[in-house]
Amino acid sequence: MSKKIIALIVLGMFVMALGLAGCGSEKSAAPEKKVIRVGSETAFAPFEFQDEKTKEYTGFDMDLIRAIGKQMGYEVEIVSMGFDGLIPALEAGNIDVIASGMTITEERAKKVNFSNPYYKSGLTIVVKSDNNTIKSFKDLEGKNIAVQIGTTGAREASKVKNAKVREFNNPPEAFMELKAGGVDAVINDKPVNDYFIAQSGSKDAKVVGEPLTSEDYGLATSKKNAELGEKINKALDELKKNGEYEKIYVKWFGVKPAN
Ligand code: ARG
Repeated sequence: MSKKIIALIVLGMFVMALGLAGCGSEKSAAPEKKVIRVGSETAFAPFEFQDEKTKEYTGFDMDLIRAIGKQMGYEVEIVSMGFDGLIPALEAGNIDVIASGMTITEERAKKVNFSNPYYKSGLTIVVKSDNNTIKSFKDLEGKNIAVQIGTTGAREASKVKNAKVREFNNPPEAFMELKAGGVDAVINDKPVNDYFIAQSGSKDAKVVGEPLTSEDYGLATSKKNAELGEKINKALDELKKNGEYEKIYVKWFGVKPAN
């Protein structure tokens, strides 16, 4: 055999070995898990909050998005951040979904895609238990109002004449300021207000008046990822049909969903 042929055979064997090695390493690697990164502001009980013992994120939204992930064959990773940072994070591609009691609004829908509504909500006013002057929206005129930054509650408070609106990172901080006497009222989502008052034994605070708004919560996805949005809607539909959605709803609210 000529040296040339031997060289070619050796080269051929070398290339084959490389190819085989490549296959081998691919096969032995763990199958890649599909993960969706879910952004949430996690001081919003009973929708998202940290379990004191396990430190896990828990709540209605957390159960729902995990069930949706499971239905789609994805693992869910919760990323906790400020509420006003959620849409920018989605736009920047740092998260894939927002599950954060987020109200579907026209303004937000210009930036993100919303799923079908998954929870009916609205805003209410919370005052101290011994406050007998604030009974409705018009009584808020000229008062100090606490809200969570970037929320529909903040938007509603901005409509009150001569009011001083103070923005907090989350509703618990706004409630604390109410308790301390720093503000006269909190405007925030009804189910969160009701849960807070029930938890605190209704000694410090009370809800006054009728709900100010009617709002629907939706899960938000990037406009660049319409496919994920569709998958989420499909999974949500399936969970509504197979009773899983109702189970999660009853677990957190003690009653069946209205529709
Ligand atoms: N529903 C209100 C909104 O969309 C408040 C949501 C706040 N959510 C939260 N996880 N902190 O503006």
